[in-house]
Amino acid sequence: MSCRAGRDMSAPPFNDTTSVVAFLKTRKSASAKAMGSPGPTPEQLRQILEIAVRVPDHGKLTPWRFILFEGDARSRIGAHFRGRWKELNPSHGEDTLAFHQALFMRAPVVIAVVSRAAPHPKIPEWEQTLSSAAVCMNVLHAASALGIGAQWQTDWPAYDPEMAKAMGLVPPERIAGFIYLGTSTVPLEDRPRPDPMALLTRWTG
Ligand SMILES: Cc1cc2nc3c(=O)[nH]c(=O)nc-3n(C[C@H](O)[C@H](O)[C@H](O)COP(=O)(O)O)c2cc1C
Repeated sequence: MSCRAGRDMSAPPFNDTTSVVAFLKTRKSASAKAMGSPGPTPEQLRQILEIAVRVPDHGKLTPWRFILFEGDARSRIGAHFRGRWKELNPSHGEDTLAFHQALFMRAPVVIAVVSRAAPHPKIPEWEQTLSSAAVCMNVLHAASALGIGAQWQTDWPAYDPEMAKAMGLVPPERIAGFIYLGTSTVPLEDRPRPDPMALLTRWTG
């Protein structure tokens, strides 16, 4: 039996990768603006996280972790969002405050991917940060493969030091992404994708 380079042909699911390739070529995000219940089941969530951590990680540092927001936790963190937004924008009215309070209420489940990138004698911080982006992407892939809508967002709470404290981050931890997970209430729309060949140059030096 022939064996394609780098592929473990003893693993039955990989004998035919046609559907995986088709999936990868068409995956797209849902929108947190149109995301209802249900969210992932506990078993689906476990699978999403299992796939999420299967990413390149130079030095095996595990430079990331997760925080789950579901149920009441979404409104409790929302109270922090509201209070902080009001502090930063004292002139804003109730509509705006309510919007920021409800950010995480837009989806049944929000997973924060926290980068723990830190100075290290051998592994550049940049590479640790890149690894956390790979984790976010794998969450999107895993959720989409399970038929769950997913969107990677950041928005201001990802960059606000007070919200970092409220979420329990400890310096130098940073939010790599909030991944909203749920069921899209509208058909997913694709957007124009760049022509990859137009982005390709051949080094001729
Ligand atoms: C690091 C990062 C942060 C993002 N933050 C936001 C955000 O705050 N709000 C937003 O509407 N989209 C944000 N996006 C874009 C969404 O993820 C968007 O849905 C995505 O570009 C759709 O692409 P896809 O269909 O290929 O997944 C962000 C994307 C990345 C990579």
